[in-house]
Amino acid sequence: MPPRKPAAGHRPLKTLERVLSKAGFGSRTEARSWIGAGRVRVNGKLIQTPDHWVDLERDRVTLDDKPVRAGRKIYLLLYKPKGYLTTYKDPQGRPTVYDLIQDLDQWVFPVGRLDLDTSGLLLLTNDTQFAERITNPAYKAPKTYLVKTASRLGDGELEQLRRGVLLSDGATQPALVQRLRDSGNHTFLELTITEGRNRQVRRMIEAVDSSVLKLVRTAIGAIQIGELGIGKHRQLEAPEVSALTCPSGSRRG
Ligand code: URA
Repeated sequence: MPPRKPAAGHRPLKTLERVLSKAGFGSRTEARSWIGAGRVRVNGKLIQTPDHWVDLERDRVTLDDKPVRAGRKIYLLLYKPKGYLTTYKDPQGRPTVYDLIQDLDQWVFPVGRLDLDTSGLLLLTNDTQFAERITNPAYKAPKTYLVKTASRLGDGELEQLRRGVLLSDGATQPALVQRLRDSGNHTFLELTITEGRNRQVRRMIEAVDSSVLKLVRTAIGAIQIGELGIGKHRQLEAPEVSALTCPSGSRRG
């Protein structure tokens, strides 16, 4: 039986697991495991009960000693290297993107995911609305990738990718596809998609009977990875955040 909700007048009370999952840090199941593992404190006190009631206006909740409901919004651009997971911890002990942002004093979560073998632009934030704006396909935020394919692709195959290919979870939306060059048996492409399905680029290339040898995300909307070193991160400037959340001419639907 969960503890009874204490009376708090009009103050917003939530259970600890809900506070963590609502803040965007993971599912409620993940939140429960963090609480159980002793990584969460409320007002400095270790709390291991997921049903513990939290007063959002007064209580300070920390995960690994970093505030989870900080007033200041953070927007980070990380150049994720290949071989790093976009999760917090890996049972197999592989490196994760959190290993690269240890200097940060606030908790952030990744905006969408990049595969283990994909490198490039990854945004991390503590702003759930911002993350929704980038990941919800209804907003059509363009994501640009540099792709090296395992075989040389013809113009017909590029046209198929542009128009949409049929994947196991339905046809893909029209994409921008530009041949950068061919080299030996490989084609280098720039591909821009507005969806973000699981392993979408890899599956699109497989749908035209090839496969991906290298995949780098180079841009989200107008934000480019630019000259940032691999494994490095920087804060987005305010105009960059605005450009992502209200790009001119963008429309939902
Ligand atoms: N598409 C993929 O196939 N993988 C990624 O990591 C991102 C997009």
